[in-house]
Amino acid sequence: MELEIQDISKSLDRIYTLDKVSIQVKDQEFVAVLGPSGCGKSTLLNIVSGLIPPDQGRILIGGEDWTGRTGRVSYMQQNDLLLPSRNILDNVIVPLLLKGIKKNRARDVAHSFFADFGLEGFEGYYPDQLSGGMRQRAALLRTYLFASDILLLDEPFVSLDAITRRKMQLWLRDIRINYPSSVLFVTHDIDEALILADRVYVFSARPARVIYQLDVTAIRGDEHSYNSAKLEILNKLM
Ligand SMILES: Nc1ncnc2c1ncn2[C@@H]1O[C@H](COP(=O)(O)OP(=O)(O)OP(=O)(O)O)[C@@H](O)[C@H]1O
Ligand SMILES: [Mg+2]
Repeated sequence: MELEIQDISKSLDRIYTLDKVSIQVKDQEFVAVLGPSGCGKSTLLNIVSGLIPPDQGRILIGGEDWTGRTGRVSYMQQNDLLLPSRNILDNVIVPLLLKGIKKNRARDVAHSFFADFGLEGFEGYYPDQLSGGMRQRAALLRTYLFASDILLLDEPFVSLDAITRRKMQLWLRDIRINYPSSVLFVTHDIDEALILADRVYVFSARPARVIYQLDVTAIRGDEHSYNSAKLEILNKLM
């Protein structure tokens, strides 16, 4: 499904947060957004999900105007937490229950994804009995089950240690072959963006404007171009 973010501007108490931000996510494309802390990345995802309305601009999904309306895209917010009182299976079925699917059916549907998400055998475990990486995979599965065609992911791996984080990046890259959603992914990590994304957008400090765009698919496998792109992005973020 195609997502078009058109000329989005937003201010709060006369402080500009987003300044005419336009981003296009094509069908099944993985787009990463990099930007300095506090520039407005989470605010943009809140607008795309419909949680807050923009001052200006439009959000189009499959050509339809969804500006200011919730319920269409899956959104994993920064520091999204699982419910501590529910086991993992009953955590990930929440979006299915919200859609009116009966509990037993929801459990069957969700369970069919457990092996691919590295959660098989842990259905009855509670969040605090799992590793950080498992909790993040469970949160990703819950997000995926809400609506599989467009995912908004706000720094999903930020709380993980470096090695787990790298494993999760490789896992997410591989699993996308079987689960080809359109993804808008926010991160601070240039390597993470370049490993995962087809295209990268770099934001300025607040108010966020798009200051750089890179087609990663064009340079994948070309170490020289990859390294110079990395330097270029680093310069833009400084
Ligand atoms: N509803 C809102 N409308 C406009 N601006 C907002 C709103 N809520 C918060 N802000 C402001 O947006 C600015 C950017 O916050 P935001 O959380 O979007 O940054 P971020 O890029 O996600 O930062 P980080 O990388 O640290 O997560 C902050 O200055 C905040 O005060
Ligand atoms: Mg944020």
